[in-house]
Amino acid sequence: MRFKNELHFSSLPSTNTFLKENYYSLPNYTVVTAKKQTAGRGRLERIWYGGDDLLLSVLIKDALDLKEITKISLVAAAAVWKTLKPLLAAEIKWPNDIVYRGKKITGILTESVIISQKLAALIIGIGINVNTVEFPEEIAEKATSLALATGKNYDLEKLKQDLLINLDYFYQDFLHGGSEFIDVCRNNSSLIGKEVIFDDFKTQRKALVLEILENGNILLEIGREKVEYASGEITLRGVY
Ligand code: BTN
Repeated sequence: MRFKNELHFSSLPSTNTFLKENYYSLPNYTVVTAKKQTAGRGRLERIWYGGDDLLLSVLIKDALDLKEITKISLVAAAAVWKTLKPLLAAEIKWPNDIVYRGKKITGILTESVIISQKLAALIIGIGINVNTVEFPEEIAEKATSLALATGKNYDLEKLKQDLLINLDYFYQDFLHGGSEFIDVCRNNSSLIGKEVIFDDFKTQRKALVLEILENGNILLEIGREKVEYASGEITLRGVY
């Protein structure tokens, strides 16, 4: 198991920021968790709210090909999905959200440090909503947690260990050029076959989601054309 070097903090601004600032002096595969984040970050400069939840980041310093790193969010998504599988029937909302009945239960923020066009560090931040039962008003409609979904409380330590084992498994699959993690994202997608709004960070268009491809990209039908994207933001009608 790679992810054995664990650092735990009672409070940090953000576990991702901590690894970004300290990656140089930390060993490959370091795991950082915090009981509380004072400046938790989500994708697209959003704030990440975290209560009694699993807030974790892992550091990867392997010399990965830059073209491959967008797949890492799918590696993480597959690992979270497998961790939650015994607890509830979650789905993966490409590229990096886990949803349960249309509400977000986990967010993934993958960040990279690139120096001289080489990957110096990759940081995978994962926030699983576990024991939070009340979310701030602005996200209450869109967010859920394991506790809200099942009426039970969960041991964060056990969940973390399961997640790290699954992350190790799918990261190994990725390193060996496997596609099991892609299959998990495809077979448990909340998007395939759905009409969505796709935002490529320039324009927003209506699209039909056709497939998650072997290279990790999403295949859409826009108008009469089939178009493939490596990143983007998807809105599903009736869901966030
Ligand atoms: C998103 O859905 O926008 C991504 C959310 C990622 C949240 C996690 S919590 C642990 C790690 N530290 C952060 O500041 N963010 C990630």
